[in-house]
Amino acid sequence: MSRSDDLIAEYKKTGSLGLLPSGHFIDGAYVTPSHGSRMDSLDPGKGEAFAGFAAGNADDVDRAVQSSRKAFDTVWRDTTPAERSRILWKTSQLVIDNLDLLAVTETLDSGKPLQESMGDVRGAARAFEYYAGACDKLEGDSFPLGPHYLGYSIHEPVGVTAHIIPWNFPISTAARGLAPALAAGCTVVAKPAEQTPFTALLLARLLSEAGLPDGVCNVITGTGLDAGAPLVSHPLVDHITFTGSVQTGKTVMKTAADEITRVVLELGGKSPVVVLSDCDHEQAITGVLGAIYENAGQICSAGSRLVIEKDIGEAFVDELVKRTAKLKLGHGLDKPDLGPVNSLEHLNKINGFVERARSRGANIVTGGSVASDPATGKGWFFEPTIVFDVPGDDELAKEEIFGPVLTVQLADNPEHALALANDCQYGLVAGIYTSDFSTAHQMARQIDAGQVYINEYFAGGIEVPFGGNRKSGFGREKGLEGLKSYCKTKSVAARIT
Ligand code: NAI
Ligand code: MG
Repeated sequence: MSRSDDLIAEYKKTGSLGLLPSGHFIDGAYVTPSHGSRMDSLDPGKGEAFAGFAAGNADDVDRAVQSSRKAFDTVWRDTTPAERSRILWKTSQLVIDNLDLLAVTETLDSGKPLQESMGDVRGAARAFEYYAGACDKLEGDSFPLGPHYLGYSIHEPVGVTAHIIPWNFPISTAARGLAPALAAGCTVVAKPAEQTPFTALLLARLLSEAGLPDGVCNVITGTGLDAGAPLVSHPLVDHITFTGSVQTGKTVMKTAADEITRVVLELGGKSPVVVLSDCDHEQAITGVLGAIYENAGQICSAGSRLVIEKDIGEAFVDELVKRTAKLKLGHGLDKPDLGPVNSLEHLNKINGFVERARSRGANIVTGGSVASDPATGKGWFFEPTIVFDVPGDDELAKEEIFGPVLTVQLADNPEHALALANDCQYGLVAGIYTSDFSTAHQMARQIDAGQVYINEYFAGGIEVPFGGNRKSGFGREKGLEGLKSYCKTKSVAARIT
């Protein structure tokens, strides 16, 4: 039996996992919350609680921020880049050593299929590996001021960084924020979503085991209102990386204004996948299915709008429907094609979108209903759903559903497809499927999105900057550009003769 089989057997027998931490992580150790309050995390595949965790409040947040402040001022900002690099590198290895525990935990917390959790954990390890290599390459510039002056710049760490993490990619989002922040010399207070608190807590311990000094990375669990809000308003926080809904993003940005705290906002999307007649159809079909059904569509960058040329639209969608019908729903630990959605509240939200569309007479060509795990009759599932020929001004084409619901829009020609793709309040990502090199790159220029995927949706990795335009937010994570979010440039100009 593999390690993950052991963990799954333990969960099936006891309904929980013995290795899960239960307190906040502050100053290098798990600690109990100041008022002893707790909440439960629910397994979306069963709709049942499986473990408790600390419900943090403003006092816990203050303790964590003070700890991060002290660690920044006294230790981490002056730790050599080479030493930071060694710690991040070691963390990457420890994440892989703990792949099974992290992935099984992620699946129980979030619901996602175990194979996707495994991919997310490997991606998290890769983020630490990538930024480990960048710590000692944060070079500044020198400025040509003539013989009497010396001008140069230094990239200094911004200070204490707060990371507000959503429930759809808990360990991935934590890693893509923590790794560059720590690489740049910042300290961290992370607040994972209350639906998925555990992998961030486990990651903090692994960082500590890798040699990260106490206080450099603290994790506070709890709700957005009780733990998130006091964190983003804390005067000792210098920077906030927020990933989540547009509504909460606005609140965070307004709060940040009071202390002039820096923000990176990674918000929602309604990303188009443009499929042109001349594409490789098999490649496009596989791409479109993955773009909407991975993590049951709960991805800010999901390809939730198929914008397809009319002449191939019907046959293409027939094939999508055929393949969608074969997808197996199930508990994440059973490695299904499609897992549950994260919460009952979220399931009801998705169902609301589809019910309203049905009452408007929408052409739902497959799926469209709430479902359950066929093995147990439990869990919060929504059938993989395709809605054909949706007008551009319909709610289904405009709003982020954040579920396995694909909206199909028909285009007369490539120009019309581009217009439909851009007719959107969001601008996170866009996919293009075509075999014409020039069309692909012209369209890549004309689409308003932070990133464009050509002939492979979700292509690229930690090397590629990621972030949104329009209501999808601003600032970039990942890549070397992501590192700059955690640096402030200091220019020095000196008269030397
Ligand atoms: P949310 O944006 O409220 O939650 C994201 C994170 O923000 C969580 O850690 C939460 O505890 C925290 N938070 C909430 N209120 C806060 C506040 N006032 N100050 C600081 N932190 C706060 O999103 P929620 O309620 O979980 O989901 C609502 C909808 O948002 C979903 O149905 C989905 O459509 C969308 N969403 C989009 C995500 C994305 O990656 N773009 C991720 C999660 C949700
Ligand atoms: Mg949960």
